[in-house]
Amino acid sequence: MSRVALVTGGTRGIGASVAKALKAAGYKVAANYAGNDEAAQKFKAENGIPVFKWDVSSFEACEAGIKQVEAEVGPIDVLVNNAGITRDSQLHRMKPEQWTAVINTNLGSLFNMCRNVIEGMRARKFGRIVNISSINGQKGQFGQTNYSAAKAGEIGFTKALAQESARSGITVNAICPGYINTEMVQAVPKDVLEKSILPLIPIGRLGEPEEIARCVLFLAADEAGLMTGSTLTANGGQYLA
Ligand code: CAA
Repeated sequence: MSRVALVTGGTRGIGASVAKALKAAGYKVAANYAGNDEAAQKFKAENGIPVFKWDVSSFEACEAGIKQVEAEVGPIDVLVNNAGITRDSQLHRMKPEQWTAVINTNLGSLFNMCRNVIEGMRARKFGRIVNISSINGQKGQFGQTNYSAAKAGEIGFTKALAQESARSGITVNAICPGYINTEMVQAVPKDVLEKSILPLIPIGRLGEPEEIARCVLFLAADEAGLMTGSTLTANGGQYLA
């Protein structure tokens, strides 16, 4: 019996690598995405992974989207909360919309998604929830009060839900990637990346999305039942949490 996995933000960046790796490992995979239809259709055509469009910052959209995935692919065993955005700005210039968008998409989505899968996982006595947090939730980042707060919030959420879910065979873990070679990091101003970020990474390079996918596969496995409430750090030594 192959397990069903749903990856949010699963058609680009880290999420696309995670979805592909799960499929290669034998999971039945569904990928959620929010806006970029062209990238999603390309991803679907290239990988044969069905894509489902909804905004994870909306509770109602998550409720409807998850129902659709469960009807078309099957009850969700593995949920990877990967969808995330940045709206970088120093706080003294940050607009309320920049704060709200990041908090609702990156952190609100954990409630919206988990609340809509947890009852089924509890009834089936199995689940794997993997939340993609960030190094910047652990250490804070200049220009990211919104993102750092959301990502730190994800770690607290993970630890609390892990405790609630342990007796139901559900594990809940967070991964904290460092700076990974995706469009999100490529959008950081070049001089900032070269002067303030790359020199701080002991391994001397950005991470690759596939390196985060390996972490997800480890935590998603049936055999990973001992791992729950943990924060798996994958940042090339940039921050030793
Ligand atoms: N620490 C300390 N000072 C810093 C700094 C830092 N990390 N970054 C910039 N500064 C300083 C600059 O040196 C500059 O000082 P001077 O005026 O004395 O020269 C001052 O702050 C203003 O810098 P900017 O001109 O860059 O200011 P800005 O307001 O135009 O832009 C910013 C600020 C939006 C934060 C911009 O610097 C930026 O985008 N930084 C990158 C932030 C970042 O790392 N984001 C991560 C995105 S990737 C991601 O989030 C994925 C993940 O999970 C890791």
